[in-house]
Amino acid sequence: MGDLSFDGRVVVVTGAGAGLGRAYALLFASRGAKVVVNDLGGGRHGDGSSSKAADSVVDEIRRNGGTAVADYNSVVEGEKIVKTALDNFGRIDVLVNNAGILRDKSFARISDQDWDLVHAVHLKGSFKTTQAAFPIFKKQGYGRVVMTSSNSGLYGNFGQANYSAAKMGLVGLASTIAIEGAKNNIHCNVIVPTAASRLTEDILPPDIFAELKPELIAPVVAYLCHESCSENGAVIESAAGWAGKCHIIRSNGSLLRTKITDGVTLENVRDNWQRVTSMEDAEHLNSIQEATGALMSSLESFRSGHAQKQESDVYDFTEKDAILYALGVGASLKNKNELKFLYENHEDFAALPTFYILPAMRAIFTSSSLESAIPGKSISLAQVLHGEQYIEFLGNVPRDGKLMSTCSLVEVLDKGSGAAIVQDVETFNEQGELAIRNQTVTFAVGAGNFGGPRTGTKIVPCQPKPNRKPDISISEKTSVDQAALYRLSGDSNPLHIDPNMAMVAGFKQPILHGLCSLGFSVRMLLRAYADGDSTLVKACKARFMKPVIPGQTLKVDLWKEGNRIHFETSVVESNTVVIGGAYVDLISVRMGPIANNVSAATLESDAIFQFIIDQVKADPNKAKSIGGVFLYKITKNGKEAKQWTMDLKNAKVYEGAPEGKPSTTLTIADEDFMLMAQGKLQPQAAFMKGKLKITGNIMLAQKLAPILKANAKL
Ligand code: NAI
Repeated sequence: MGDLSFDGRVVVVTGAGAGLGRAYALLFASRGAKVVVNDLGGGRHGDGSSSKAADSVVDEIRRNGGTAVADYNSVVEGEKIVKTALDNFGRIDVLVNNAGILRDKSFARISDQDWDLVHAVHLKGSFKTTQAAFPIFKKQGYGRVVMTSSNSGLYGNFGQANYSAAKMGLVGLASTIAIEGAKNNIHCNVIVPTAASRLTEDILPPDIFAELKPELIAPVVAYLCHESCSENGAVIESAAGWAGKCHIIRSNGSLLRTKITDGVTLENVRDNWQRVTSMEDAEHLNSIQEATGALMSSLESFRSGHAQKQESDVYDFTEKDAILYALGVGASLKNKNELKFLYENHEDFAALPTFYILPAMRAIFTSSSLESAIPGKSISLAQVLHGEQYIEFLGNVPRDGKLMSTCSLVEVLDKGSGAAIVQDVETFNEQGELAIRNQTVTFAVGAGNFGGPRTGTKIVPCQPKPNRKPDISISEKTSVDQAALYRLSGDSNPLHIDPNMAMVAGFKQPILHGLCSLGFSVRMLLRAYADGDSTLVKACKARFMKPVIPGQTLKVDLWKEGNRIHFETSVVESNTVVIGGAYVDLISVRMGPIANNVSAATLESDAIFQFIIDQVKADPNKAKSIGGVFLYKITKNGKEAKQWTMDLKNAKVYEGAPEGKPSTTLTIADEDFMLMAQGKLQPQAAFMKGKLKITGNIMLAQKLAPILKANAKL
């Protein structure tokens, strides 16, 4: 590409007797333009006038072999300057509105004259000169205009209220001229310079002042005025050999009312202020049509009754994500049938069914529907609790790939103390088939009393547990690192890991994710009634009732009613229900070994042994003072179901038989062991009745009482 030339072009630069204007004039002339060097030749504050300033620049141009004429008019009489161009060169192609003065005063001290003079030179002068040139530009179908603004206008500056106002006024003036001139190839842009000149000599620090040569800005202005530059309506900042475009941006904003028939109250505005002013999703709008168009579409959504929009999200996952999730909800190689959740090359590799809640949660987190669920109230993540979850499988779910979810707000219920926000998420597989439907009920604490309905019609209901003892109970201890592991699957809310954040939210320590406890529960349910086959799951519903602390033992009580398995999960240590009203619907029931043959089961006594493990760990010396290696054989339905070793010599308690020969072997039924631990069955009586069989060192067994009794509170 060749050099940019202004041959044949006539350029008017106002205020070109010094500073930036002079640099512009010299550059234009050096590129072949015929230049009108306008300058009133007054003082810095708009006082006086002289022909010297313009003349000296004209002389300089001529000395360099260029063409220029001087013009001594004030820009307030812009038509005279344009006439100079026409009289001398017969045309005008480019106008750079650059003339300027300062009358800096703190706002309170600005006089009418300070105001009027600054506005006259900057704003009115640019208006007058441009208006005089405009018909000529129009007629010839060509024109380039530059307005000169300032960072003082864009951002404000102490002591420059009059100047700032005029400089920002020029941005508005240029924006409209750009629109009106566009069809005639008239471009109007704004330059925001920072340069060393007499206007800034006492404003800029001396070392910086020296670097801010006007010559470094002149090429930017000249380029904006070249016929090859298509920029129009832009604000370009430039200084010290750098240039950049400035934009006005607008926040995503917020609706302030629910219905078009509603008014807007002051409180509506206050309550939405955070979203009104959040610049997180701010964008630049290219035109007034775009700006008002966005408003119109929100009005439209009111009219059609869909104030809330549907939002989509793509969940891109691999087998590794499914494995990480399985580990997060306690899947372990120590459990028969769980290798398939942990090893991608296993012939039956599958994700746990509850894994497919994750795409829905992601869609909800990324959507704005939660925060804006209640018009007039902004809801923060810190005040929300997961209330209920429903998942239903409708089509093929992949083990890796992409799932597309759309999230919509279906109902917001006013529960007084809070609001229940019901969101449906439909998840589609890559074939576009609806594969999963999730529903999340979120409880927003403190967001109630907004006059909404108390009960809804869209929530998939919880189901009460059958009125009988559970058919099967399975317990499993969570790890103290359970939440630390689970959060890696996408829910990184600090409430689950950061002690300080937990405290702020009103908990003594970080709590486990409700969905993690749900994953645990469903995994145990699968073991009992689906033989670990996750593809048998059709649907699952659960209500989260109380938090779980990582490290606590979860007990899942299960009731089979046809293909529906009801369940309730509680924390063994505190005997509190944490998940209730819950069920899983299976396509068909396939009894796992736990249900058929309890040998692989997790027994009720497991929780006691977990307790003993913790106790022995806490006070190993007490255990050592007893000494001995005890082997417990726990039976269920008359069959041996599990062995536990209490190696008190070494203060170790674990599942399975000891390495060497035990000092004492005790055989007892699971339920009798529980009764004993609860203090409801005396060991002596159990022994006499034949419920407790002891072989080996019987005397040593008597010493066990304090360790077992310690659990009587269970
Ligand atoms: P300058 O004072 O060196 O140049 C301004 C020229 O305009 C002077 O020669 C002056 O005689 C002339 N002038 C003043 N009133 C006039 C009138 N009524 N009619 C015709 N000519 C008139 O100042 P500088 O720094 O070169 O400023 C040029 C433009 O850039 C001004 O509009 C100024 O507000 C703007 N600007 C400058 C910045 C800087 O860092 N130098 C920063 C932001 C904006």
